[in-house]
Amino acid sequence: MKWVAEALQYLEKQVGARPRVAVVLGSGLGAFAEELSGSVDIPYAAIPHWPCSTAIGHAGKLVFGRLGETDVAVMAGRVHLYEGYSQQQVVFGVRVLARFGVRVFVFTNAAGGINPSYGRGGLVLISDHINLQGSNPLVGPNDDSLGPRFPDMSEAYSAGLRKLAKEVAGELGIPLGEGVYAALLGPSYETPAEIRYLRAIGADLVGMSTAPETIAANHLGARALAISCVTNMAAGILPQKITHTEVLETGEMVRGTLIRFLKALLPRIEV
Ligand code: HPA
Repeated sequence: MKWVAEALQYLEKQVGARPRVAVVLGSGLGAFAEELSGSVDIPYAAIPHWPCSTAIGHAGKLVFGRLGETDVAVMAGRVHLYEGYSQQQVVFGVRVLARFGVRVFVFTNAAGGINPSYGRGGLVLISDHINLQGSNPLVGPNDDSLGPRFPDMSEAYSAGLRKLAKEVAGELGIPLGEGVYAALLGPSYETPAEIRYLRAIGADLVGMSTAPETIAANHLGARALAISCVTNMAAGILPQKITHTEVLETGEMVRGTLIRFLKALLPRIEV
């Protein structure tokens, strides 16, 4: 974990504050970073070993700042397995930030809606995931200084944080669904047959991220909360094709609501 240590050392030189909460922003959802006051931007490219995202709609910078009285770190842009990055690279930022002091990770992502009760543009709290990416960030020799060899995943998405998220959404009048996220490798969207399969095994949402980071966060003993933006209904649910443009446009559409939600939620997270 020499690479984590080197990235950490760099951050320690650049940033005075030690946020306990971090937000990871998914496709088309990067605008939240602009809401922080007194912010310091650090492009991923400047941080030793930090993988840079190649996906359109991902900004690729770490932002430190404050929301009211709360120090927050924001990862605007993440890398995905489908870009060719390894599981270790995908969770690199989570590991560095955890070492930096982050104890709660709030992940956001764009996802396809499988549950027919969802609609395009809806926000859904992830209650659990099904990892179908065919790999796991903890494969390989375990670094006991990070966490245990066989971490428990029975409450991968903190029940306490989900309860708080529902309370906050309720107060703001923001409809918030809850469901199981199936993580696939991508980058092709699913076939209708795959979506029928995912529905049969209990998935409500499908996407190409978040599961590795959540596994890594749990391994590190940090708590995770994840919110999907349903950018499109999954393949075969509606008689239309899925395009990345639709995914990004929906992200834009929901942006204001997501920002309002995160601004109210983050200061209320107790760490
Ligand atoms: N499938 C997988 N990932 C996604 C989708 C989808 O339909 N929409 C946004 N990310």
